[in-house]
Amino acid sequence: MIILKIGGSALTIKDADKPTIDEVNLDRIAQEVSAYNEDMVIVHGAGSYGHIYAKKFGIGDVIGNVNDHLYKLEGLCRTQASVQLLNYIVVEKLHEKGVPAIGIKPSSFIVTDNKRIAVCDTKIIKQYIDNGFVPVLYGDAVLDYNDYIKFAIISGDQLITYLAKELKADRVILSSDVDGIYTDNPKINPEAKLIDIVTKDTKLTLTENEDQADVTGGMGGKIKELLQLAEEGIESQIINAETPGNIKLAVSGQEVKGTIIK
Ligand code: IPE
Repeated sequence: MIILKIGGSALTIKDADKPTIDEVNLDRIAQEVSAYNEDMVIVHGAGSYGHIYAKKFGIGDVIGNVNDHLYKLEGLCRTQASVQLLNYIVVEKLHEKGVPAIGIKPSSFIVTDNKRIAVCDTKIIKQYIDNGFVPVLYGDAVLDYNDYIKFAIISGDQLITYLAKELKADRVILSSDVDGIYTDNPKINPEAKLIDIVTKDTKLTLTENEDQADVTGGMGGKIKELLQLAEEGIESQIINAETPGNIKLAVSGQEVKGTIIK
């Protein structure tokens, strides 16, 4: 079974000032996904459908007074509705390409405690997979047991780590808008080199939040999640969703340029 994460930056225009689909990429990626030949779960990011609201309303920040609580209630409603809409658009596109995709809303069955998944029953996901469907989940805004924050954002990256362990995935593929992990930020340093394999001992110069539009930690956040997965014995690979053909190669079990985390 494969878990494929499609980064929000590949499906949407991530730094747009309102939720905006990247139509060309979405169409191509959905077409490539249809080449899958084993059980698969897709988790997509939120891109401009989520990060704009999550940031504006400060979802996951400590709640101040009553007015702030009310503001954050509105924020949870708006963020959930927006990412659910993106999920609907992604699922529809997958149907168009012949993929039996089923959208599943993470916030309807997941609660976090201090921003980490505490409640999440994966039986229904398993049941859909066993019946030949491709469940499609996404980064979402959820309830949190911590009374100081009450709400939290779960990134698609946290979800894939959790689902990979629970559903005993064979492979995790994480596609975003970079070729993999570099020795330095390739957008700033032209000398930066792609690293083929990353382990917990690899020295990286990444900062936690190099991507300003990202409330869930950018590449630093991804690596942290994937290293945890590696500790459980599940290997993952970061590939570039924007390079045509990459997702097709990955979901059909062929070799792709990228970084393996093990
Ligand atoms: C973020 O999910 C979810 C929300 C902001 C609601 P991700 O962190 O997985 O999204 P991308 O891939 O960075 O856009």
